[in-house]
Amino acid sequence: MSDLTVPSTAKAVSFSAYGEPVELRLTDTAVPKPGPGQVLLRVAAAAVNPLDWKLRRGFMQAVFPVEFPHIPGLEAAGTVVATGPGVDSWQVGDEVFGSAVAAYAEYALAEAATLAARPADLPVATAAGLPVAAETAVRALGLLDLKPGETLLVHGAAGSVATLAVQFAVADGIRVIGTAGERDHQALRELGAVPVLYGDGVFDRVREAADGQPVAAVLHTAGDGLLADSVALVGGPERVLTISAAQEAGPLGVRFTSGGDAAGAVEGLSRALALHAAGTLSAPVRTTLPLADAPTAHRLSEQGGGRGKIVLLP
Ligand SMILES: NC(=O)c1ccc[n+]([C@@H]2O[C@H](COP(=O)([O-])OP(=O)(O)OC[C@H]3O[C@@H](n4cnc5c(N)ncnc54)[C@H](OP(=O)(O)O)[C@@H]3O)[C@@H](O)[C@H]2O)c1
Repeated sequence: MSDLTVPSTAKAVSFSAYGEPVELRLTDTAVPKPGPGQVLLRVAAAAVNPLDWKLRRGFMQAVFPVEFPHIPGLEAAGTVVATGPGVDSWQVGDEVFGSAVAAYAEYALAEAATLAARPADLPVATAAGLPVAAETAVRALGLLDLKPGETLLVHGAAGSVATLAVQFAVADGIRVIGTAGERDHQALRELGAVPVLYGDGVFDRVREAADGQPVAAVLHTAGDGLLADSVALVGGPERVLTISAAQEAGPLGVRFTSGGDAAGAVEGLSRALALHAAGTLSAPVRTTLPLADAPTAHRLSEQGGGRGKIVLLP
């Protein structure tokens, strides 16, 4: 293992009981050592995901039990400060971004195989918010297996995952209809999607927007009680996929997907980087906050109502 001087303890945010955002506390924590295939990052930015507050509230205990104290954070951008055994893809000093473990911290571990080099013109806050959304987007689109020219409906199209799914789908020649609040319609048009107002009557508006073309598949990222009508819209459950409504999906025979692999992580980042290189990537950051403001970050994420990633800057 090669390394820079790394302190033995550093700041991290953790919770030691399920509950309100106030359970998130900034403490001094032992800096982890990278194991085989891992690198240690000095974290420049760590993004917040809805899963982080669902875990903190204890909503996911049956699926993702956590040990206390638990440091949230699934993704980060930072500098490689140490490499574990067997890692030759990254050197100390490399600027990278990708999936990470316990990323609400000054230092965090990441699997070397899931990282990408961060271009100097990709801000750390933007980069930190890409990995989960990009991996989820490529996984979801892969499962739906659309062909160019087909029409895809995306529920919750202005969300972070959906924003990338819309861009990847449009780049693949897929026609996208996306549901969102009025505030986000212009942004969706700029991504090449046809926006439709969410809420009561949404499926009538989707049919109108489809303009006589069949809707081939539905990607559901947000909204309750939308899956049964989605199945009816496409004529069966096979080409309806949800990333957020596992319980609603089960009885309808609709697939729920969760958890990706290293190949998908790399493909997601490489697709996002290709859009960035072309100058067309849209990956908004809603706000940046210091690590100590993790409770505020979680409150904002839980409340919703804003577009883009909430990002912590250690
Ligand atoms: N299974 C997986 O692998 C996986 C991976 C990543 C994320 N997820 C889950 O997927 C969901 C989305 O994640 P994200 O990071 O993209 O969240 P996000 O950035 O917070 O976006 C959520 C979006 O949903 C919209 N929305 C809320 N209610 C809606 C409705 N009834 N109809 C249409 N849109 C609605 C919100 O719009 P407003 O701002 O107007 O409220 C917002 O644009 C979360 O539940 C997350 O936990 C799952």
